[in-house]
Amino acid sequence: MLADKDRIFTNLYGRHDWRLAGARERGAYVGTKDFIDSGRDWIVNEVKTSGLRGRGGAGFPTALKWTFMPKEGAGDGRPCQLLVNADESEPGTCKDREILRHDPHHLVEGCLLAGRAMGAHIAYVYIRGEFIRERQRFEEAVQEAYDARLIGKDNVHGWDFDIVVHHGAGAYICGEETALMESLEGKKGQPRLKPPFPAAMGVYGNPTTVNNVESIAVVPEILRRSGAWFASIGRPNNTGTKLFMASGHVNNPCTFEEALGESFKDIIEKHCGGIRGGWDNLLAVIPGGASCPIVKAEDIRDATMDFDGLREKKSSFGTGGMIVMDKSTDVVKAIWRISAFFKHESCGQCTPCREGTGWMMRVLERMVVGRAQKREIDMLFEVTKQIEGHTICALGDAAAWPVQGLIRNFRKEIEDRIDQYTWSSTSDGAVPSIAAE
Ligand SMILES: Cc1cc2nc3c(=O)[nH]c(=O)nc-3n(C[C@H](O)[C@H](O)[C@H](O)COP(=O)(O)O)c2cc1C
Repeated sequence: MLADKDRIFTNLYGRHDWRLAGARERGAYVGTKDFIDSGRDWIVNEVKTSGLRGRGGAGFPTALKWTFMPKEGAGDGRPCQLLVNADESEPGTCKDREILRHDPHHLVEGCLLAGRAMGAHIAYVYIRGEFIRERQRFEEAVQEAYDARLIGKDNVHGWDFDIVVHHGAGAYICGEETALMESLEGKKGQPRLKPPFPAAMGVYGNPTTVNNVESIAVVPEILRRSGAWFASIGRPNNTGTKLFMASGHVNNPCTFEEALGESFKDIIEKHCGGIRGGWDNLLAVIPGGASCPIVKAEDIRDATMDFDGLREKKSSFGTGGMIVMDKSTDVVKAIWRISAFFKHESCGQCTPCREGTGWMMRVLERMVVGRAQKREIDMLFEVTKQIEGHTICALGDAAAWPVQGLIRNFRKEIEDRIDQYTWSSTSDGAVPSIAAE
């Protein structure tokens, strides 16, 4: 379990002063100039040693991603840029907002250091449309940093650096890195075809690296305490501390920082006071945000909460946003609800996603009440396979996985409802609309 001294986000609950003075008291901007002076390769190597993997969902190694940026600039005068993804819209995920509003200087300093590591003199921070107060708070922190000459032209750190805050308009798809770029450029937020990859041609046609808020905000502390320190927490390939979120049927839903590699049961006991009604009352958990396949109680209890641990359970770690369901949950309806979300958020560009998300949602809507044929269960699974991997971006995958997880784990539940459903002369017509509930 994570010792208090190893926590990075010391103001997660906003109990202390979030402003520059408070952040400095908690250690912010100590040694920053030395890190900048140590140069690009030193920063990249330290982050590589730390084993940091992206905290935005996919877990891609952060230092490796930075090395994709052109070493000597684009060579044709195009500037390198950092794009911070603060769109945080995945249901069950609410950690980046805590950084923006309670520990914003972690992110400001992180942008500067990551910028140095990739040869960028500018960071764009794209903030979710609904995060109004978070955006105001972060903008205030950025202004404080400008006023204190910590960033900006001729700043005290010797690396010219600007931060531009952009406020989105509230669309889940704009969290996908290339849709994010389109939106930032003022266009409709639809994912781009790759290649070209962002490191070659990103925002405004310039080399760009997209990183999650948490991935960037942990960088200053990694440099201050060393990559080896970060790597000593967790286990190989799954290192460091992580912000977890627990929502749903735990006694104390909350966001907390913990080491990777601990068991689900241990972290829920420690931070959330256990499961509502006791552990025997647990039904299932969606472990990392709505797109991750659901895991049954018996499989999740002792699961190791990290990237590899959840892959072993045929799910994924995602963002660390755990949606906990006790036995009072209508699990088919819960996954139907998630399907409705993805249908609503599909940008409509790719046919399998545009048509498939609506199709899955409508079949599930019937399955909630059992008004379906058993053979449709396999047909539904087959449709998820036709969506997965067949779209420009991963929203299609994100919509398919929860449905696959439901069928893998709760087929009997669906079949029982079909068995119990009484067909009558009137029931063949209108689908009972749970959407209207
Ligand atoms: C539909 C969709 C929505 C996404 N939303 C977010 C988001 O809100 N925040 C985020 O950091 N990454 C999101 N991602 C992942 C990003 O595309 C990208 O992989 C991530 O920002 C990279 O950061 P990291 O390497 O630091 O994890 C989303 C991906 C998809 C396909």
